[in-house]
Amino acid sequence: MKEQKKAIVLGGTTPHVALVNKLKERGYYVILIDYLLNPPAKKVADEHIRESTLDQEKVLEISKDRNADLVISSCIDQANSVCCYVAEKLGLPHPYSYKTSLDVTNKGLMKKVFIENGIPTSAYTITNSVDSIDWEKIAYPAVVKPVDCNSSKGVHRVDSDDETRLRVAEAIELSRTGTAIIEGFNQGTEIQVDCISISSCVKVMMTRQKQKNVAEGNAMVLQSYGSIFPAPLSDELKRQVQNIAEKIAQAFNLCNTPFFYQAVVTDAGIQVLEFAPRVGGGMSSYVLKAFANYDAVENVIDSFLGKPISVEPREQTSFHSTIILYMKQGVFDHVEGVEQQQEKGNISEFFLLRKKGAKIDGDVRSANRIASFIVEGQSYDELKQKARNALSSIEIRDEQGNPLLNREIYSSL
Ligand SMILES: Nc1ncnc2c1ncn2[C@@H]1O[C@H](COP(=O)(O)OP(=O)(O)O)[C@@H](O)[C@H]1O
Ligand SMILES: [Mg+2]
Repeated sequence: MKEQKKAIVLGGTTPHVALVNKLKERGYYVILIDYLLNPPAKKVADEHIRESTLDQEKVLEISKDRNADLVISSCIDQANSVCCYVAEKLGLPHPYSYKTSLDVTNKGLMKKVFIENGIPTSAYTITNSVDSIDWEKIAYPAVVKPVDCNSSKGVHRVDSDDETRLRVAEAIELSRTGTAIIEGFNQGTEIQVDCISISSCVKVMMTRQKQKNVAEGNAMVLQSYGSIFPAPLSDELKRQVQNIAEKIAQAFNLCNTPFFYQAVVTDAGIQVLEFAPRVGGGMSSYVLKAFANYDAVENVIDSFLGKPISVEPREQTSFHSTIILYMKQGVFDHVEGVEQQQEKGNISEFFLLRKKGAKIDGDVRSANRIASFIVEGQSYDELKQKARNALSSIEIRDEQGNPLLNREIYSSL
Protein backbone atom coordinates (compact mmCIF):
# COMPACT_ATOMS: atom_id res chain seq x y z
CA MET A 1 0.00 0.00 0.00
CA LYS A 2 1.21 3.48 -0.78
CA GLU A 3 2.26 5.34 2.36
CA GLN A 4 -0.05 8.17 3.41
CA LYS A 5 1.28 11.67 2.68
CA LYS A 6 2.45 13.54 5.77
CA ALA A 7 1.99 17.23 6.50
CA ILE A 8 3.58 19.06 9.40
CA VAL A 9 1.61 22.08 10.60
CA LEU A 10 3.51 24.71 12.57
CA GLY A 11 1.42 26.25 15.32
CA GLY A 12 -1.86 25.08 16.80
CA THR A 13 -3.75 28.38 16.77
CA THR A 14 -7.51 28.53 16.10
CA PRO A 15 -7.19 29.44 12.38
CA HIS A 16 -5.05 26.33 11.98
CA VAL A 17 -7.97 24.11 12.98
CA ALA A 18 -9.36 24.74 9.49
CA LEU A 19 -5.94 24.21 7.94
CA VAL A 20 -5.53 20.81 9.64
CA ASN A 21 -9.05 19.77 8.60
CA LYS A 22 -8.48 20.73 4.96
CA LEU A 23 -5.17 18.85 4.87
CA LYS A 24 -6.90 15.76 6.24
CA GLU A 25 -9.58 16.12 3.56
CA ARG A 26 -6.77 16.13 1.02
CA GLY A 27 -5.54 12.84 2.41
CA TYR A 28 -2.65 13.98 4.60
CA TYR A 29 -1.65 12.52 7.95
CA VAL A 30 -1.25 15.72 9.97
CA ILE A 31 1.43 16.23 12.61
CA LEU A 32 1.06 19.41 14.63
CA ILE A 33 4.11 21.06 16.19
CA ASP A 34 3.35 23.46 19.04
CA TYR A 35 5.10 23.85 22.38
CA LEU A 36 1.78 24.42 24.18
CA LEU A 37 0.18 21.48 25.95
CA ASN A 38 -3.30 21.97 24.51
CA PRO A 39 -3.34 24.28 21.49
CA PRO A 40 -6.76 24.58 19.74
CA ALA A 41 -5.70 22.64 16.61
CA LYS A 42 -4.47 19.66 18.64
CA LYS A 43 -7.89 18.05 18.79
CA VAL A 44 -8.13 17.78 15.02
CA ALA A 45 -4.51 16.78 14.24
CA ASP A 46 -3.47 13.13 14.00
CA GLU A 47 -0.47 13.73 16.23
CA HIS A 48 0.96 16.54 18.37
CA ILE A 49 4.68 17.09 18.99
CA ARG A 50 5.56 19.58 21.71
CA GLU A 51 8.41 21.64 20.32
CA SER A 52 8.76 25.29 19.48
CA THR A 53 7.52 26.06 15.96
CA LEU A 54 10.15 28.78 15.76
CA ASP A 55 13.10 26.44 16.37
CA GLN A 56 13.99 25.89 12.73
CA GLU A 57 16.67 23.25 13.33
CA LYS A 58 14.31 21.21 15.49
CA VAL A 59 11.51 21.50 12.91
CA LEU A 60 14.00 20.48 10.20
CA GLU A 61 15.05 17.43 12.22
CA ILE A 62 11.44 16.34 12.85
CA SER A 63 10.48 16.91 9.21
CA LYS A 64 13.44 14.81 8.05
CA ASP A 65 12.81 12.02 10.59
CA ARG A 66 9.14 11.84 9.74
CA ASN A 67 9.70 12.09 6.02
CA ALA A 68 7.26 14.99 5.67
CA ASP A 69 5.79 15.81 2.26
CA LEU A 70 4.71 19.29 3.31
CA VAL A 71 5.62 21.73 6.12
CA ILE A 72 3.00 24.43 6.35
CA SER A 73 1.56 27.32 8.35
CA SER A 74 -1.13 29.71 7.18
CA CYS A 75 -1.05 32.83 9.28
CA ILE A 76 1.99 33.11 11.55
CA ASP A 77 4.81 35.12 9.92
CA GLN A 78 7.73 33.58 11.73
CA ALA A 79 6.37 30.06 11.32
CA ASN A 80 6.03 30.71 7.56
CA SER A 81 9.70 31.56 7.52
CA VAL A 82 10.55 28.27 9.24
CA CYS A 83 8.41 26.43 6.64
CA CYS A 84 10.40 28.02 3.81
CA TYR A 85 13.71 27.25 5.52
CA VAL A 86 12.88 23.58 6.06
CA ALA A 87 11.33 23.20 2.60
CA GLU A 88 14.43 24.62 0.90
CA LYS A 89 16.69 22.25 2.88
CA LEU A 90 14.56 19.19 2.13
CA GLY A 91 13.46 20.09 -1.39
CA LEU A 92 9.78 20.32 -0.42
CA PRO A 93 7.26 22.63 -2.11
CA HIS A 94 6.94 26.12 -0.62
CA PRO A 95 5.26 29.39 -1.63
CA TYR A 96 8.26 31.73 -1.79
CA SER A 97 11.95 31.71 -0.96
CA TYR A 98 13.41 31.64 2.54
CA LYS A 99 15.05 34.97 1.71
CA THR A 100 11.67 36.54 0.93
CA SER A 101 10.35 35.16 4.20
CA LEU A 102 13.19 36.91 6.05
CA ASP A 103 12.62 40.18 4.19
CA VAL A 104 9.00 40.20 5.26
CA THR A 105 9.58 39.41 8.94
CA ASN A 106 11.94 42.35 9.36
CA LYS A 107 10.38 45.79 9.07
CA GLY A 108 13.73 47.39 8.16
CA LEU A 109 14.35 45.02 5.22
CA MET A 110 10.72 45.35 4.16
CA LYS A 111 10.85 49.16 4.08
CA LYS A 112 14.06 48.98 2.06
CA VAL A 113 12.36 46.85 -0.60
CA PHE A 114 9.29 49.17 -0.56
CA ILE A 115 11.41 52.23 -1.23
CA GLU A 116 13.62 50.55 -3.85
CA ASN A 117 10.48 49.55 -5.74
CA GLY A 118 8.54 52.79 -5.59
CA ILE A 119 5.94 51.50 -3.14
CA PRO A 120 4.65 54.59 -1.26
CA THR A 121 5.75 54.45 2.39
CA SER A 122 7.11 56.90 4.95
CA ALA A 123 10.85 57.59 5.33
CA TYR A 124 12.66 55.51 7.95
CA THR A 125 15.93 54.83 9.71
CA ILE A 126 17.03 51.87 11.82
CA THR A 127 19.33 51.72 14.83
CA ASN A 128 20.91 49.24 17.22
CA SER A 129 21.55 51.73 20.00
CA VAL A 130 20.13 54.95 21.41
CA ASP A 131 23.51 56.61 20.87
CA SER A 132 23.69 55.95 17.15
CA ILE A 133 20.31 57.30 16.01
CA ASP A 134 20.59 59.15 12.69
CA TRP A 135 18.69 62.26 13.83
CA GLU A 136 18.90 63.85 10.36
CA LYS A 137 16.46 61.22 9.12
CA ILE A 138 13.79 61.87 11.76
CA ALA A 139 10.87 64.25 11.39
CA TYR A 140 8.01 64.43 13.89
CA PRO A 141 5.51 63.00 14.37
CA ALA A 142 7.30 59.66 14.01
CA VAL A 143 6.67 56.05 15.01
CA VAL A 144 9.16 53.79 16.79
CA LYS A 145 8.92 49.98 16.57
CA PRO A 146 11.07 46.90 17.09
CA VAL A 147 11.93 45.65 13.58
CA ASP A 148 10.81 42.10 14.23
CA CYS A 149 7.84 41.97 16.59
CA ASN A 150 4.12 41.87 15.88
CA SER A 151 0.70 42.58 17.43
CA SER A 152 1.74 46.22 17.92
CA LYS A 153 4.31 45.23 20.54
CA GLY A 154 6.59 48.18 21.28
CA VAL A 155 4.96 50.41 18.62
CA HIS A 156 4.66 54.05 19.74
CA ARG A 157 4.15 57.44 18.25
CA VAL A 158 6.87 59.91 19.30
CA ASP A 159 6.93 63.70 19.06
CA SER A 160 10.27 64.67 20.61
CA ASP A 161 13.89 63.52 20.81
CA ASP A 162 13.44 62.52 24.46
CA GLU A 163 10.43 60.35 23.66
CA THR A 164 12.32 58.85 20.73
CA ARG A 165 15.26 57.87 22.96
CA LEU A 166 12.94 56.27 25.49
CA ARG A 167 10.92 54.29 22.93
CA VAL A 168 13.97 53.27 20.91
CA ALA A 169 15.54 51.81 24.07
CA GLU A 170 12.33 49.85 24.71
CA ALA A 171 12.08 48.65 21.11
CA ILE A 172 15.71 47.47 21.08
CA GLU A 173 14.98 45.52 24.25
CA LEU A 174 11.94 43.83 22.66
CA SER A 175 13.60 43.06 19.32
CA ARG A 176 15.19 39.64 18.83
CA THR A 177 17.92 41.31 16.81
CA GLY A 178 18.18 44.37 19.08
CA THR A 179 17.05 46.71 16.29
CA ALA A 180 14.55 49.55 16.29
CA ILE A 181 13.00 51.32 13.30
CA ILE A 182 11.94 54.97 13.41
CA GLU A 183 9.61 56.03 10.60
CA GLY A 184 7.36 58.90 9.61
CA PHE A 185 3.88 58.87 11.12
CA ASN A 186 1.00 58.61 8.62
CA GLN A 187 -2.11 60.55 9.51
CA GLY A 188 -5.37 59.11 8.21
CA THR A 189 -7.65 56.08 8.27
CA GLU A 190 -6.09 52.65 8.23
CA ILE A 191 -7.00 49.98 5.70
CA GLN A 192 -6.16 46.35 5.13
CA VAL A 193 -6.10 45.00 1.60
CA ASP A 194 -6.30 41.25 0.95
CA CYS A 195 -4.91 40.16 -2.40
CA ILE A 196 -3.81 37.13 -4.36
CA SER A 197 -1.08 37.11 -6.91
CA ILE A 198 -1.81 34.53 -9.57
CA SER A 199 0.35 33.82 -12.56
CA SER A 200 -1.15 36.42 -14.85
CA CYS A 201 -2.19 39.22 -12.50
CA VAL A 202 -2.84 40.41 -8.98
CA LYS A 203 -6.40 40.40 -7.67
CA VAL A 204 -7.62 42.57 -4.82
CA MET A 205 -10.09 40.34 -2.99
CA MET A 206 -11.22 42.59 -0.16
CA THR A 207 -10.55 46.01 1.35
CA ARG A 208 -11.30 46.73 4.98
CA GLN A 209 -11.17 49.93 6.93
CA LYS A 210 -10.09 49.53 10.54
CA GLN A 211 -12.36 51.02 13.14
CA LYS A 212 -10.49 52.73 15.92
CA ASN A 213 -11.21 54.74 18.94
CA VAL A 214 -10.39 58.40 18.41
CA ALA A 215 -6.87 59.03 19.66
CA GLU A 216 -6.67 61.04 22.82
CA GLY A 217 -4.27 63.92 22.38
CA ASN A 218 -1.14 62.54 20.82
CA ALA A 219 -1.55 59.01 22.10
CA MET A 220 -1.64 56.51 19.28
CA VAL A 221 -4.49 54.15 20.06
CA LEU A 222 -3.23 51.14 18.24
CA GLN A 223 -5.76 48.40 18.66
CA SER A 224 -8.80 48.59 16.49
CA TYR A 225 -12.14 47.27 17.69
CA GLY A 226 -13.17 46.00 14.29
CA SER A 227 -13.37 46.80 10.63
CA ILE A 228 -15.76 47.84 7.87
CA PHE A 229 -15.73 46.20 4.46
CA PRO A 230 -15.53 47.02 1.68
CA ALA A 231 -13.57 50.10 2.76
CA PRO A 232 -15.11 53.38 1.57
CA LEU A 233 -12.65 54.31 -1.18
CA SER A 234 -12.93 56.66 -4.13
CA ASP A 235 -12.17 55.34 -7.62
CA GLU A 236 -8.79 57.06 -7.47
CA LEU A 237 -7.97 55.35 -4.16
CA LYS A 238 -9.13 51.99 -5.57
CA ARG A 239 -6.73 52.52 -8.44
CA GLN A 240 -3.90 53.15 -5.96
CA VAL A 241 -4.91 50.07 -3.97
CA GLN A 242 -4.60 47.89 -7.10
CA ASN A 243 -1.38 49.53 -8.23
CA ILE A 244 0.29 49.03 -4.85
CA ALA A 245 -0.84 45.38 -4.76
CA GLU A 246 0.83 44.82 -8.13
CA LYS A 247 4.02 46.55 -7.06
CA ILE A 248 4.27 44.50 -3.86
CA ALA A 249 3.76 41.22 -5.73
CA GLN A 250 6.47 42.18 -8.17
CA ALA A 251 8.93 43.55 -5.61
CA PHE A 252 8.74 40.44 -3.42
CA ASN A 253 8.41 38.00 -6.29
CA LEU A 254 5.06 36.65 -5.19
CA CYS A 255 3.47 34.27 -7.59
CA ASN A 256 0.47 32.11 -6.76
CA THR A 257 0.45 33.55 -3.25
CA PRO A 258 -2.22 35.12 -1.04
CA PHE A 259 -0.97 38.27 0.70
CA PHE A 260 -2.31 41.32 2.47
CA TYR A 261 -1.04 44.78 3.17
CA GLN A 262 -1.85 47.42 5.74
CA ALA A 263 -1.83 51.06 4.76
CA VAL A 264 -3.00 54.51 5.75
CA VAL A 265 -5.16 56.66 3.48
CA THR A 266 -3.50 60.05 3.92
CA ASP A 267 -4.21 63.39 2.25
CA ALA A 268 -1.28 62.62 -0.03
CA GLY A 269 -2.57 59.20 -1.08
CA ILE A 270 -2.09 55.69 0.25
CA GLN A 271 1.02 55.00 2.34
CA VAL A 272 1.92 51.37 3.05
CA LEU A 273 2.74 50.34 6.62
CA GLU A 274 3.56 46.69 6.10
CA PHE A 275 2.58 43.58 4.22
CA ALA A 276 2.56 39.83 4.83
CA PRO A 277 2.55 37.01 2.27
CA ARG A 278 -0.24 35.10 3.95
CA VAL A 279 -3.79 35.41 5.17
CA GLY A 280 -4.52 37.57 8.23
CA GLY A 281 -5.28 36.04 11.61
CA GLY A 282 -8.34 36.74 13.72
CA MET A 283 -11.54 36.89 11.69
CA SER A 284 -9.80 37.22 8.32
CA SER A 285 -10.33 33.75 6.92
CA TYR A 286 -13.96 33.74 8.02
CA VAL A 287 -14.92 37.05 6.43
CA LEU A 288 -12.91 36.39 3.29
CA LYS A 289 -14.73 33.15 2.75
CA ALA A 290 -18.18 34.38 3.72
CA PHE A 291 -18.12 37.69 1.86
CA ALA A 292 -15.41 37.67 -0.79
CA ASN A 293 -15.64 34.22 -2.31
CA TYR A 294 -12.10 33.62 -1.11
CA ASP A 295 -11.36 30.33 0.58
CA ALA A 296 -8.11 31.46 2.08
CA VAL A 297 -7.15 28.13 3.62
CA GLU A 298 -7.59 26.18 0.38
CA ASN A 299 -5.63 28.86 -1.43
CA VAL A 300 -2.80 28.76 1.08
CA ILE A 301 -2.47 25.00 0.68
CA ASP A 302 -2.45 25.36 -3.12
CA SER A 303 0.10 28.13 -2.80
CA PHE A 304 2.41 25.91 -0.74
CA LEU A 305 1.95 22.99 -3.15
CA GLY A 306 2.51 25.18 -6.21
CA LYS A 307 -0.95 24.33 -7.61
CA PRO A 308 -2.39 27.25 -9.58
CA ILE A 309 -4.88 29.22 -7.51
CA SER A 310 -7.98 30.28 -9.33
CA VAL A 311 -10.13 32.98 -7.78
CA GLU A 312 -12.51 35.70 -8.82
CA PRO A 313 -13.35 38.51 -6.39
CA ARG A 314 -17.06 38.68 -5.64
CA GLU A 315 -18.79 42.00 -6.07
CA GLN A 316 -19.83 42.98 -2.54
CA THR A 317 -23.39 44.21 -2.73
CA SER A 318 -23.95 44.93 0.93
CA PHE A 319 -21.76 46.36 3.67
CA HIS A 320 -20.43 44.55 6.68
CA SER A 321 -18.56 45.34 9.81
CA THR A 322 -16.89 43.27 12.48
CA ILE A 323 -16.94 44.40 16.09
CA ILE A 324 -14.61 42.91 18.67
CA LEU A 325 -15.70 42.81 22.29
CA TYR A 326 -13.06 43.65 24.87
CA MET A 327 -13.60 43.55 28.61
CA LYS A 328 -12.17 45.37 31.60
CA GLN A 329 -9.94 43.53 34.04
CA GLY A 330 -11.68 40.55 35.60
CA VAL A 331 -12.69 36.93 35.16
CA PHE A 332 -14.95 36.34 32.19
CA ASP A 333 -18.17 34.47 32.80
CA HIS A 334 -20.64 35.16 29.98
CA VAL A 335 -21.89 37.58 27.34
CA GLU A 336 -25.54 38.51 27.58
CA GLY A 337 -28.09 40.03 25.24
CA VAL A 338 -26.71 38.49 22.07
CA GLU A 339 -29.74 36.42 21.05
CA GLN A 340 -32.15 39.35 21.20
CA GLN A 341 -29.78 41.38 19.04
CA GLN A 342 -29.59 38.53 16.54
CA GLU A 343 -33.39 38.36 16.44
CA LYS A 344 -33.58 42.10 15.87
CA GLY A 345 -31.17 41.78 12.97
CA ASN A 346 -28.48 43.96 14.53
CA ILE A 347 -26.06 41.04 14.76
CA SER A 348 -25.84 38.60 11.88
CA GLU A 349 -23.13 36.32 13.24
CA PHE A 350 -21.61 35.97 16.72
CA PHE A 351 -18.34 34.30 17.75
CA LEU A 352 -17.35 33.56 21.32
CA LEU A 353 -13.56 33.65 21.50
CA ARG A 354 -12.82 32.98 25.18
CA LYS A 355 -14.07 30.41 27.63
CA LYS A 356 -15.84 31.07 30.91
CA GLY A 357 -13.22 31.52 33.63
CA ALA A 358 -10.65 33.28 31.41
CA LYS A 359 -8.64 35.85 33.40
CA ILE A 360 -8.42 39.13 31.49
CA ASP A 361 -6.01 41.95 32.38
CA GLY A 362 -8.07 44.64 30.66
CA ASP A 363 -5.50 45.65 28.03
CA VAL A 364 -6.91 46.17 24.56
CA ARG A 365 -4.89 43.52 22.72
CA SER A 366 -5.63 40.42 20.68
CA ALA A 367 -5.22 38.01 23.57
CA ASN A 368 -7.98 39.81 25.45
CA ARG A 369 -10.69 39.50 22.81
CA ILE A 370 -13.78 37.97 24.40
CA ALA A 371 -16.07 37.73 21.41
CA SER A 372 -16.80 39.31 18.08
CA PHE A 373 -19.81 39.81 15.88
CA ILE A 374 -20.71 40.73 12.32
CA VAL A 375 -23.16 43.43 11.31
CA GLU A 376 -24.70 43.61 7.87
CA GLY A 377 -26.34 46.65 6.31
CA GLN A 378 -27.18 48.47 3.11
CA SER A 379 -25.14 51.55 3.96
CA TYR A 380 -22.29 52.61 6.22
CA ASP A 381 -24.80 54.54 8.33
CA GLU A 382 -26.93 51.47 8.83
CA LEU A 383 -23.87 49.50 9.94
CA LYS A 384 -23.06 52.15 12.49
CA GLN A 385 -26.59 52.31 13.83
CA LYS A 386 -26.92 48.53 14.13
CA ALA A 387 -23.53 48.23 15.86
CA ARG A 388 -24.49 50.97 18.32
CA ASN A 389 -27.82 49.30 19.05
CA ALA A 390 -26.17 45.94 19.58
CA LEU A 391 -23.47 47.33 21.86
CA SER A 392 -25.96 49.20 23.98
CA SER A 393 -27.82 45.98 24.77
CA ILE A 394 -24.92 43.57 25.15
CA GLU A 395 -23.02 43.10 28.39
CA ILE A 396 -20.04 41.03 29.47
CA ARG A 397 -20.30 39.77 33.04
CA ASP A 398 -18.18 37.99 35.62
CA GLU A 399 -19.60 35.32 37.93
CA GLN A 400 -20.87 37.95 40.37
CA GLY A 401 -22.75 39.67 37.56
CA ASN A 402 -20.52 42.76 37.38
CA PRO A 403 -20.71 44.56 34.01
CA LEU A 404 -17.29 44.40 32.35
CA LEU A 405 -17.71 45.33 28.68
CA ASN A 406 -15.09 48.01 27.99
CA ARG A 407 -17.52 50.55 26.49
CA GLU A 408 -15.01 53.40 26.21
CA ILE A 409 -13.39 51.74 23.23
CA TYR A 410 -16.53 52.16 21.15
CA SER A 411 -17.21 55.77 22.10
CA SER A 412 -16.38 57.10 18.64
CA LEU A 413 -18.78 54.72 16.91
N1 LIG B 1 4.05 54.96 10.26
C1 LIG B 1 2.88 54.82 10.90
N2 LIG B 1 1.96 55.80 10.86
C2 LIG B 1 0.77 55.68 11.50
N3 LIG B 1 0.43 54.59 12.21
C3 LIG B 1 1.30 53.57 12.30
C4 LIG B 1 2.57 53.64 11.64
N4 LIG B 1 3.21 52.48 11.89
C5 LIG B 1 2.40 51.74 12.65
N5 LIG B 1 1.24 52.37 12.91
C6 LIG B 1 0.11 51.86 13.70
O1 LIG B 1 0.58 50.83 14.53
C7 LIG B 1 -0.01 49.58 14.19
C8 LIG B 1 1.02 48.45 14.32
O2 LIG B 1 2.12 48.72 13.50
P1 LIG B 1 2.68 47.65 12.45
O3 LIG B 1 3.80 48.28 11.71
O4 LIG B 1 1.56 47.14 11.64
O5 LIG B 1 3.27 46.56 13.40
P2 LIG B 1 2.79 45.09 13.82
O6 LIG B 1 3.71 44.19 13.10
O7 LIG B 1 2.98 45.06 15.28
O8 LIG B 1 1.37 44.93 13.35
C9 LIG B 1 -0.54 49.77 12.79
O9 LIG B 1 -1.63 48.92 12.53
C10 LIG B 1 -0.93 51.24 12.82
O10 LIG B 1 -2.19 51.42 13.46
MG1 LIG C 1 0.58 45.28 11.45
